[in-house]
Amino acid sequence: MKKTTKKKITTKRNKLPKCPTGIKGLDEITEGGLPKNRITLVSGNGGSGKTLMGIDFLIKGATAYNEPGVLMSFEETDDEQYKNVASLNMDLAGLVSQKKILLQHVVLDRKEIQEKDFNLEGIFVRLEEAIDSIGAKRVVLDSLESIFSGVTDNGVLRFEMKRLFRWLKEKQVTTIVSGEQGANGSYTRHGLEEYISDCIILLDNRVRDQIATRRIRIVKYRGSKHGTSEYPFVIDDEGLSVIPITSAGLNQPGTNKRVSTGIPSLDKLFTGRKGYTRGSTILTSGTAGSGKTSFAGAFALDSCKHGERCLYFSYEESTGQLVQNMNSIGIDFAPWIEKGLLKIVALRPSFLGLELHLLNVYKLVDSFKPKAVVVDPLTSLVGEGEQREVSSMITRMIDLFKSRSITTFFTSLVSANFQSNTSGEIGVS
Ligand SMILES: Nc1ncnc2c1ncn2[C@@H]1O[C@H](COP(=O)(O)OP(=O)(O)OP(=O)(O)O)[C@@H](O)[C@H]1O
Ligand SMILES: [Mg+2]
Repeated sequence: MKKTTKKKITTKRNKLPKCPTGIKGLDEITEGGLPKNRITLVSGNGGSGKTLMGIDFLIKGATAYNEPGVLMSFEETDDEQYKNVASLNMDLAGLVSQKKILLQHVVLDRKEIQEKDFNLEGIFVRLEEAIDSIGAKRVVLDSLESIFSGVTDNGVLRFEMKRLFRWLKEKQVTTIVSGEQGANGSYTRHGLEEYISDCIILLDNRVRDQIATRRIRIVKYRGSKHGTSEYPFVIDDEGLSVIPITSAGLNQPGTNKRVSTGIPSLDKLFTGRKGYTRGSTILTSGTAGSGKTSFAGAFALDSCKHGERCLYFSYEESTGQLVQNMNSIGIDFAPWIEKGLLKIVALRPSFLGLELHLLNVYKLVDSFKPKAVVVDPLTSLVGEGEQREVSSMITRMIDLFKSRSITTFFTSLVSANFQSNTSGEIGVS
């Protein structure tokens, strides 16, 4: 039989080249990073993390991508920049002395700015020198407002702005400029964002219930797909981390493999096979004192006995209490903790707030690489935020575990009058 082959119409698109930021999660929501050799505006209110994001972009560029970078700051002096990152676990000074990052603090002369024929020539000269001296591929200008702080003539402002951006593009560097949000919802105080056609990122910092949550949103990204939601992000001593809502995607291959429940008679109840499906999520719910933690303990112990690391989140009991309680039913955790196969994290989720807690979970999973996780009890998370937030957090947690093929054991406390609701009042099953 003659094979009929349809001619494929290939719509080969020129994919926009991207510059990976190296900032955790940001490259996922931007699908690869910032537009390469173009300009990205990072806008936000005071303290929202604009400067840190710029510095983080340069540090990751220098350390992970071998791309030197220039930070030109019109606000903070070099000393202040060092202080900014002193709280971070990053060696800015070291990178500066290795000529991988160049800090340049520019004090603009007010008198000069107010002149009618103001131009950025002086800045171009210094920036060019800086870029050429270390072969910079990345540039951060902090901030747009301060460059133009004294310029009152709108025509001049716009003309110089366009010139600056054109010049940067010709220079073939990937640039972040920071901007402050204007009163009327614009992304820069002078409404200059219309000149940034490539990418605009908005940072936001709100406080609710005494817990600050930082959000990041890609407002626009010309020529590229990107995540459109608001994503929580955190600043800690490793810099910025964005937590994508469903980074993992649910494309984990299914498996037939089983892991033991740790209780032989219970294993038998799983028809034909022994135990839980590897990589699955198990929810045990019951009223207070019904033995949920004991089931969790048996599962954790069995995982360790098979040489597989187990991460145990104990939200309501301290490590000491948990170990002691388990001991009383013949489960000895101590040797496994010593061997480094069992890690108990005893911490109330409210201690950090949901988002930081989730980030902490991400980091622990990345560093400890467990094959089994226990969350005891999952219901502790309820009441730590609005229901939507709690379920979104739990979804992300489950996505994370599934994407790493981790078998997860949740316990859930149900009050006596909810016994018929086996999903445990939180919509997980
Ligand atoms: N190690 C750290 N752990 C947690 N948070 C930190 C750490 N270091 C700095 N921060 C926080 O990061 C923020 C710093 O923000 P940054 O200076 O980048 O903001 P900005 O948007 O540039 O502000 P401005 O508009 O005032 O220049 C502060 O809110 C600070 O509390
Ligand atoms: Mg700043």
